[in-house]
Amino acid sequence: MKLFIDTANVEDIRRANDLGVICGVTTNPSLIAKEGRDFVEVVKEIAEIVDGPISAEVISVEADKMVTEALELYRTINNKNLVIKIPMCAEGLKATKQLAAMGIKTNVTLIFSTAQALLAAKAGATYVSPFVGRLDDIGFEGIDLVEDIVKIFRNYAIKTEIISASIRSSNHVIEVARVGSDIATVPYKIIESMIQHPLTVSGIQRFLDDWAKVEQQQI
Ligand code: G3P
Repeated sequence: MKLFIDTANVEDIRRANDLGVICGVTTNPSLIAKEGRDFVEVVKEIAEIVDGPISAEVISVEADKMVTEALELYRTINNKNLVIKIPMCAEGLKATKQLAAMGIKTNVTLIFSTAQALLAAKAGATYVSPFVGRLDDIGFEGIDLVEDIVKIFRNYAIKTEIISASIRSSNHVIEVARVGSDIATVPYKIIESMIQHPLTVSGIQRFLDDWAKVEQQQI
């Protein structure tokens, strides 16, 4: 399973990229707003750091306007890795179809049902993004949704890749990997939590302490 980072914070992206564990980035309007910076400028900076798919979302609600916005993003950002993130709705599907016909990659987001994922794939989406944590929030099993989508896409050899999003814990990452998600997009703090294990910390300390004793004996 591939890991993307889910943020518009350039420093976090740089840190995660330096670790060698991510190969793509997803952003959304909320994440961009959190940074308080110019959208295009941020995406351009991200594209200089990560050589992999970078999802940038349109904010129009009509298909033609989504397509115009997508083309404008393509023109200004001018990077082969740009993926246009489209909200799941009828207009979004129409825009996805048009963009797919132009060879432009799309990530259909805000997927909360298997039916939505299937429709997005039919419309030509390169990626679909089921939101695991937000389903958990309302008492459903987000992981079950990912598992269902994986099964259906495999049944029919559908090429659309699944980006598990709204990931809230390292356990979520492991669970979506277990059910066969192609990608998990995760905030930097989750990557940090995946690195940590108390036995690793105490193990490193014990090695260092024992080595200090060896050095002491050699004096
Ligand atoms: O990729 C979607 C993600 O950013 C949403 O996460 O935690 O706001 O549900 P969250």
